[in-house]
Amino acid sequence: MPTLFPLTVPEAAALLRGGKLCAFPTETVYGLGADATNPDAVLSIYETKGRPRFNPLIVHCGDLAMAERLAKFTPLARRLAETFWPGPLSIVLPLKAGHGLADIATAGLDTVALRMPDHPLALALLREAGLPLAAPSANPSGKLSPTTAGQVQKGFAGRVPVLDGGPCKRGLESTIVAVDGDRLIQLRAGALPREDIEKATGIRVEQVVEGAAISAPGMLLSHYAPNAHMRLNAEPRPGEAFLAFGPAQPFSGTTRNLSPTGDLHEAARNLFSMLHELDADGASTIAVAPIPETGLGEAINDRLQRAAAPRG
Ligand code: TXA
Ligand code: MG
Repeated sequence: MPTLFPLTVPEAAALLRGGKLCAFPTETVYGLGADATNPDAVLSIYETKGRPRFNPLIVHCGDLAMAERLAKFTPLARRLAETFWPGPLSIVLPLKAGHGLADIATAGLDTVALRMPDHPLALALLREAGLPLAAPSANPSGKLSPTTAGQVQKGFAGRVPVLDGGPCKRGLESTIVAVDGDRLIQLRAGALPREDIEKATGIRVEQVVEGAAISAPGMLLSHYAPNAHMRLNAEPRPGEAFLAFGPAQPFSGTTRNLSPTGDLHEAARNLFSMLHELDADGASTIAVAPIPETGLGEAINDRLQRAAAPRG
């Protein structure tokens, strides 16, 4: 699909500074960005997405200095940022006095999730706008996250201007980790495998416990959902579409293979795009092959389970 609103970085930055929305590329998924210090701008993110509740949003920063103006960094938090930024890690930290963020961006919490995206256009936009940008994935609430500018346009029927940076190289949302003293708690599995964080810090990354004091408020069970129903760890039946992984089993119906060689990075990058394609093909049920639970498989299986959950 041709870009309906081809934008340059200065044009996108001007929109954001003027309190308007603009979708932009990151290495994970496309974000629906707004000035995180402007409550009306952030409110229009919720309206545009049709988000049922005011979940806290991830605030994107162009450099560590911008992030340090917003939140209190402990030495461990700074080490995480220096090791993995720019990159697919969102760090939840206590807000700093005078942070200037709109309450609605943090849903009134006293913490904020920060990240520096690893995409040249996102970084250029953040620096040109000179603002922290609140940005959830650029899709209508509950639908699949977009990994191309065309999917953003389709999802919002062309109503949102998009800075086109090509397909996202990771294809899965960032990993979210809360830093609590010398503890690291993973609130959402994502594009940075837990093992990588453990290797870099020497600290075991704990899994979030349902109902714990530290949690990720926005983690709705049914999410990231295609229109089709999903059957996981499944062999395809006649009439279904098939999302395969690894060497292809012969199947006569519509098939996509996340990674014929069984590479989890390739599978992560393809996940949302292939679900979009199978959906566009009109499949009523998508059977999904088993995916190993190691490395990026944890995040892939998390998204598949949400996509397969009963719709609320
Ligand atoms: O890859 C990504 O992270 C993408 C791209 C656009 O950067 N963004 C993204 O944002 O996935 P979003 O809004 O879909 O994810 C926000 C989630 C919330 O639902 C919540 O679970 C968690 O981040 N979160 C945000 N602030 C938090 C906080 N202060 N404490 C705990 N969890 C928080
Ligand atoms: Mg999302």
